Amino acid sequence: MSFMLRKSMDRRSAPSPRVAPASIIAVASGKGGVGKTFMAITLASAFAQSGKRTLLVDGDLGLANVDVQLGIAPETDLAAVIAGWVELDDAVTPVDGGASKGGFDVLPGRSGSGALAELPSEEVARLAAGLSALALQYDQVIVDLGAGIEANCMRLARAADKALMIITDEPTSMTDAYAFIKVLRGYAPNVESAIAINQADTRAGGQRTYEAIARACQTFLGFRPHLAGVIMNDPKVREAIRSQKTLISTDPRAQSIQDVIAIAQSLMTDGPSAAAMQY
Ligand SMILES: Nc1ncnc2c1ncn2[C@@H]1O[C@H](COP(=O)(O)OP(=O)(O)OP(=O)(O)O)[C@@H](O)[C@H]1O
Ligand SMILES: [Mg+2]
Repeated sequence: MSFMLRKSMDRRSAPSPRVAPASIIAVASGKGGVGKTFMAITLASAFAQSGKRTLLVDGDLGLANVDVQLGIAPETDLAAVIAGWVELDDAVTPVDGGASKGGFDVLPGRSGSGALAELPSEEVARLAAGLSALALQYDQVIVDLGAGIEANCMRLARAADKALMIITDEPTSMTDAYAFIKVLRGYAPNVESAIAINQADTRAGGQRTYEAIARACQTFLGFRPHLAGVIMNDPKVREAIRSQKTLISTDPRAQSIQDVIAIAQSLMTDGPSAAAMQY
């Protein structure tokens, strides 16, 4: 099957195609459970609130939890696309009115549908190509990647302009993130890496964590990824996830939300690059 987009766009909420593709940001970490999905959802909301037509993609296909954190029950998802039941653009679900009405669109995954790692590489490459084509209809695409550094994860990351690495001060998070950056650099040198330190106890501590990663990249990989920002440890994040409501909608003034909004603003000042259409 193919993931080519259909001409009839009846269910899709995004408006007419654009000339330039969206900037695609892959939210990655290497290690699991560090805050990628929280970051991806909050970034998508922040971009949407800034007037960007935004698509959020659950790239953690088999252990998907974007829909769980959003508290939505989509009618269809990427598992259905991969199974050949629906076309990619028909799997788009509007959130808060969708991308054309001030909210954003989501391409959900399906938990328990089988891991991304198990998909044949051609399927993942086709999915990435479909995403790049779909990106023409948006200003901003955010892909919430799964944990790990296996090849299919890298194949999805390769469709992005930028990998936003979510890192905490735990040594395992730092080493896994470094491994991701290193493998991605070899696999897709055009994809820029940027770093967000999450769950920081102090800003100075977050800055130190960043410096440690940046130094390792500079020494061993010959480049220094820039710091997109530091997000403070905020108990409100856990509460929001437990209640399946986004913190940005229930408490937009929360410290962690203000931190992510600042990161979204810094990312918006970067334009899209040619890497978005490399497939
Ligand atoms: N800034 C923060 N402050 C406090 N807790 C946070 C923060 N960011 C994330 N968390 C907590 O970390 C946990 C994991 O978050 P999330 O599901 O977003 O991580 P993930 O990287 O997507 O995980 P996975 O690899 O399993 O997909 C959640 O319980 C969440 O509440
Ligand atoms: Mg996640």
